[in-house]
Amino acid sequence: MKIKVTNSYSEMSSVAASKVAKIIEEKPNAVLGLPTGNTPLGMYHELIAMHQKANLSFEKVTTFNLDEYIGLERDHINSYNYFMFHNFFKHIDIDKANINIPNGNTEDPKEECAEYEKKIAKAGGIDLIILGIGVNGHIAFNEPSDHFPASTHIVTLDQSTVQANARFFMSVDEVPRFAITMGIGSIMHCRKIMLLANGEAKAQAVKEALQGPITPALPGSALQLHKDVTVILDTGAASRLTLT
Ligand code: GLP
Repeated sequence: MKIKVTNSYSEMSSVAASKVAKIIEEKPNAVLGLPTGNTPLGMYHELIAMHQKANLSFEKVTTFNLDEYIGLERDHINSYNYFMFHNFFKHIDIDKANINIPNGNTEDPKEECAEYEKKIAKAGGIDLIILGIGVNGHIAFNEPSDHFPASTHIVTLDQSTVQANARFFMSVDEVPRFAITMGIGSIMHCRKIMLLANGEAKAQAVKEALQGPITPALPGSALQLHKDVTVILDTGAASRLTLT
């Protein structure tokens, strides 16, 4: 595992964007796993700038989002589908046919989970997945649990996650209680993983994920078992790590 501590959120974001750009330059039809949340916003802004000013092209890139709420219309302002189009996809030259986001507004979410795994396999697997981390150590929407879920599945969100995500909604009561998420197994199958975290609020989760025991009680700790993980932090998120 490579850990890079940057001096600021903007440096974390540009280091992350450069790594994504390098993957796309080496493999124009790369398959990317993409997160939502505040953490990756700066990286998306950088990638948009690289597209606009440096001709970075996403034309042949395929994307798979990590997760989506269950029960929101696809274009609901708080859906992850809306987040991705608004903050990233509408600003780049990606082929819409190559964008994959779990459909949380379907009659049969279980079938949607199975289909999502099939689509990932059909695309040849994911070259690089980019992750944020929740304050309780969740990655994608894999909440603390007694096992590591293997594949895309339906989750009940933790009360702490509902509270943390309430900032995006009018009230906490509006936050969906269920979501579709890639499993820990889906994440571990990706060829490369990049974890981003900024701010002191994430320091404990980062410490436990990277240097604590490997346990489904702290889902991010599974990353210690993957052979190609790059972690990019700011000083706040890195503040509890033991760095040699
Ligand atoms: C959500 C997402 C995660 C994300 C996490 C952290 O719950 N499902 O993929 O990593 O929040 O969000 P933020 O980056 O806003 O702290």
